[in-house]
Amino acid sequence: MAFPPAFLDELTARNPIEDVVGQYVTLKRSGSNLFGLCPFHGEKTASFSVSPDKGIFYCFGCHKGGGVINFQMEIEGLSYPDAVRTLARRAGMEVPDDEQYQSRYRQQERLWALSKEAARFFNAQLYAPQGREGLAYAQKRGMPQSTLTKFGIGFAPDSWDTLTKAMLAKGYTEEELKESGLVSVSQKNGRIYDRFRNRLMFPIIDVRGNVIGFGGRVMDDSTPKYLNSPETIIFNKRKNLFALNLAKKSKLGYLILVEGYMDAVALHQYGFDCAVASLGTSLTEEHATLLSRYTEQVVLIYDGDQAGQNATQRAIPMLEKAGLQVKVLKMRDAKDPDEYLKKFGADRFRLLLEESSNRVEYQLNAILKKYDLSLDEERVRFIAEASEFIAGLGNAVQREIYGTRAAEAASISYDAIKIEINKAYKRLQAREKKKQEKIDLSPARNLQPKARSIRYDNMKSAMAEEEILAMILREPALLDGIANLREEMFSCPLLGRVFGQLKRRHAEGLEVALSVLEDLTPEEMSHMAGILQRQQGPVSEQALMDCVRTVQQEYQSGNVRSEDDLLLLRDKMKERKGIKA
Ligand code: UTP
Ligand code: MN
Repeated sequence: MAFPPAFLDELTARNPIEDVVGQYVTLKRSGSNLFGLCPFHGEKTASFSVSPDKGIFYCFGCHKGGGVINFQMEIEGLSYPDAVRTLARRAGMEVPDDEQYQSRYRQQERLWALSKEAARFFNAQLYAPQGREGLAYAQKRGMPQSTLTKFGIGFAPDSWDTLTKAMLAKGYTEEELKESGLVSVSQKNGRIYDRFRNRLMFPIIDVRGNVIGFGGRVMDDSTPKYLNSPETIIFNKRKNLFALNLAKKSKLGYLILVEGYMDAVALHQYGFDCAVASLGTSLTEEHATLLSRYTEQVVLIYDGDQAGQNATQRAIPMLEKAGLQVKVLKMRDAKDPDEYLKKFGADRFRLLLEESSNRVEYQLNAILKKYDLSLDEERVRFIAEASEFIAGLGNAVQREIYGTRAAEAASISYDAIKIEINKAYKRLQAREKKKQEKIDLSPARNLQPKARSIRYDNMKSAMAEEEILAMILREPALLDGIANLREEMFSCPLLGRVFGQLKRRHAEGLEVALSVLEDLTPEEMSHMAGILQRQQGPVSEQALMDCVRTVQQEYQSGNVRSEDDLLLLRDKMKERKGIKA
């Protein structure tokens, strides 16, 4: 992964961060920064900043940040070398040879090609004599040829080596077949054999159009019902969604999230071309973030059974955290969308979709269902739980609307439940206030980095270290005057490491900028970008020398501070900021 520093310098110079970010985010200038809606956490007010002169982006909301390479990694879910490669291509630059990286990328490319070849092979089998049963099953499941073609659905024949032989004949190696997860290895004799046999095959395709894995369904009641590809260097279940490659092009303006491959396929077939399914795992945060890149609204349609309802309750907060609006459609009269569509057709499904409730209604209904409202005692308990829930809603209008609805359900007056809601609301506010006070009173917590993996053990020194880095990043020439400051004097290893790198780069005549730093995790890079956006004090040799002295003194005294010291320190810091400003 070691790209030559000079190459990275040129790469970042030829890919201005505002241009690269501008491909994904609409930016508006405000002073020396540009602002837009954060593509990583979904929001209504712009807290995502791009600073062209510093070459960084930083979100004041979710605290993600970094240089242009980090942005490319995050936004497209790429590894570091892949992001570099993408940016190089964008700028028409040639990527210098890096064997380790090149070989891994070549390996991925081979697996993508192999998987695509396998998908073609499976699809062709459907129309061959040995695939007759598969085609019959697909037809029994109501899939016309247009659907089979659109999804590239195929059939794995009932054989131990048909696919293996075909792929070996195409020049793929046994090793590659193993790495792709298309074959398994016999425990007994170490020989490879087709993993998928006698199954209807659903290729899983990522948003860039690469076939990355398969789900294969049995055609009878044997288990497992669906066999999926194992995790490989090209297949990560937590980060991909079935049919998103198609749904991302939908004009419907929302995405439908379902549990099963067949549900997604049926929805597309019936005109709801915005459906995606998770891959035999429950929804992950990565899935939610991925969805939020393509839409603002998700309609959750999980199976009508208890498992589906539990999964819905789990998914709602995750999707909301990613900034998505969530609606929930509860399946009735059919166990899943596939069955519903086939029983009742698209028009009736559309009605169901139109009356799908927002998550508040859905959750209120879930509470309602827990109680038998014909019993006074249960009504009282329902009102208590519903009031608690309603009190937690963000705005007064919502509290009134759902308060009214809960009152109606329990056949009491709105005024009566309003009293309960208000009480619960006050309790909630008091709790929040206490929580906030606790945070405010804890200076350590306030000044500590947002990222969990980075901790400041000596806050006084760390604050000075932050300022030093912010100053030299803006004015690299200042490095000439502080030759006696050494990396190991820094109390925070990360800040020290960054300082060391910058110092070496400056000595070698390379660009001194955050965006060209290597070996930082995304979290560390975000932290550094945050510092740059926060530390905006004036740059002067005097200020720099003050900070350097602090770091050296703390280093010599070997200080690790307690929380009490920190309180004192915070006040001092405030004072100093005040004087400077
Ligand atoms: P379901 O059991 O609800 O299947 O599993 P389904 O989608 O309704 O399938 P059909 O209609 O019977 O063909 C939902 C999803 O859970 C995953 C699959 O992704 C499936 O689509 N799953 C299920 C597995 O990965 N393995 C299994 O054995 C079962
Ligand atoms: Mn089904």
